[in-house]
Amino acid sequence: MHIKHEIFDHKKWKRKVLLKLLRKKSFRKKFCQSEFFYEQVMHRSPISKRNVEELTGPVKLTLENFFSRNGNLSPYEVIAITSLIAKRNPKRLLEIGTFDGNTTLQMALNSADDALIHTIDLPEGELETRAPVLDSDLQFIADEKKQIRKFQGTLVAHKVHQHFGDSTNYDFSKFTKEGSLDFIFVDGGHSYPCVQSDTENALKSLAKDGCILWHDFTPHFGGVFQFLTELSQKLPLVHIEGTNLVMYRRNHDH
Ligand SMILES: C[S@@+](CC[C@H](N)C(=O)[O-])C[C@H]1O[C@@H](n2cnc3c(N)ncnc32)[C@H](O)[C@@H]1O
Repeated sequence: MHIKHEIFDHKKWKRKVLLKLLRKKSFRKKFCQSEFFYEQVMHRSPISKRNVEELTGPVKLTLENFFSRNGNLSPYEVIAITSLIAKRNPKRLLEIGTFDGNTTLQMALNSADDALIHTIDLPEGELETRAPVLDSDLQFIADEKKQIRKFQGTLVAHKVHQHFGDSTNYDFSKFTKEGSLDFIFVDGGHSYPCVQSDTENALKSLAKDGCILWHDFTPHFGGVFQFLTELSQKLPLVHIEGTNLVMYRRNHDH
């Protein structure tokens, strides 16, 4: 007697199992948080990647007390942002989202003596903003240790002008009194409406040859990721390799 032997179709079977699993909410959640998914999404991002060295050439940096904690840029991201500042020599800078002032201090250390760095954060105890607040942002908003800002008491503290307010409901002309801004770092609230509002205000305040840098271009911050992906259809954006930073240079507009 002959029995017809069906060859087991691994590919089809795996696809079937995966699709079934993806229908489960708990699996989907875990999958979307996995490193594998993160890498796949980043790999397919439409924003072109550039190496920081390629963008700045060799630069000399000064870094102090820059080791990061949750909420800060990573040390390599600090190197990337300060390299851009050292190369571009901006005089009027803005940071949205001071937190503990780690990046503010490095920006001050690597900018010209006559540079002015505006930085804004929510007033202590303020948890509400005009744009919706992400649950994952609450830990940074309510962080108590950040009240001691790293630039306070340093030799470059005079370059920093601290503002307190909601960036989505703030008069940006307070940042442009001395002229339009040469360098803007957007790292405040991470909801889509918040990053959209911060970006619109940043674009209005930006000098002709100015530059904007956003942090948290990662699928873990879906609002930022989606917003910047959409923005890349209208503006030439660059993703800085090895970081979650995305850059726009106005003089590269065509
Ligand atoms: C991730 S931390 C910023 C980290 C900091 N830029 C650094 O590089 O170390 C985000 C900060 O943005 C602030 N923030 C969130 N929403 C804001 C808003 N609407 N206006 C001003 N600051 C906001 C939070 O209070 C928090 O301190």
